[in-house]
Amino acid sequence: MKGIILAGGNGTRLLPLTKITSKQLLPVYDKPMVFYPLETLLNAGIKDILFIVAPSHAGDFLKLLGSGKQFGAKFTYEIQDKPEGLAQAFIIGAEFIADDNVTMILGDNIFEDDFSKTIMNFKSGGHVFAKEVPDPERFGVVKFDADMNAVQIEEKPKTHLSNYAVTGLYIYDNRVVEAARQAQPSERGELEITELHNWYLKKGELKVDIVKGEWIDAGTFDTLLRASNLMAEKAKKIQ
Ligand code: DAU
Repeated sequence: MKGIILAGGNGTRLLPLTKITSKQLLPVYDKPMVFYPLETLLNAGIKDILFIVAPSHAGDFLKLLGSGKQFGAKFTYEIQDKPEGLAQAFIIGAEFIADDNVTMILGDNIFEDDFSKTIMNFKSGGHVFAKEVPDPERFGVVKFDADMNAVQIEEKPKTHLSNYAVTGLYIYDNRVVEAARQAQPSERGELEITELHNWYLKKGELKVDIVKGEWIDAGTFDTLLRASNLMAEKAKKIQ
């Protein structure tokens, strides 16, 4: 199992903070944001990790994370020239993925859960992680059956589909590269991750798991603050 951390984009929702650095390098309590998704992958036993970053602050990622040796892992870096969509990660990362399965996590997504069992037991198909939220229309939304098979999945739907947001953690088998190469840009000009999910869903191969602990997409001022407060509280509990 290989890992990808998608940490590109312009971070425009966090301007002026992101004028001088990348969103994923901003502090969340006592660590740069990207450390949290990195720990999620490392804790699941993934040691071969590709960081996909924007050109503007690429050097800062390298300075912070280096070869990966310090983390007991091996890090590789690729540049995404323009934020042309989440699914593009699998085209940029095709050579890195080679013949393996892959777990991708978004560089601004913070999870409390330990996903090691699901990631290590993964065999084939696609696997997404859903969280019940009060405002699902802000995210990808998934509807699923009693056997946890996805039955419908849509990016920011205009009509109510379910209360379950699709979080920024995804597991796919090797066919995801082929699915990404077949994807067409959406109306907003991006290769959407939802298109990959639908590729697996149509084959009846998209499974859903529920996220039990906290999940924060730290990409806004309010959620960035919430993430810092949560991590500060957790640190105090441990002391
Ligand atoms: O956080 C979970 C949500 O993330 C999912 O529910 C949605 O299905 C998924 O599309 C995504 O929605 P967002 O509206 O949060 O996507 P955003 O454009 O903010 O991108 C998410 C992260 O990925 C962000 O940290 C920047 C990075 N990114 C984004 C794009 C479009 C890249 O590195 N490259 C890109 O091309």
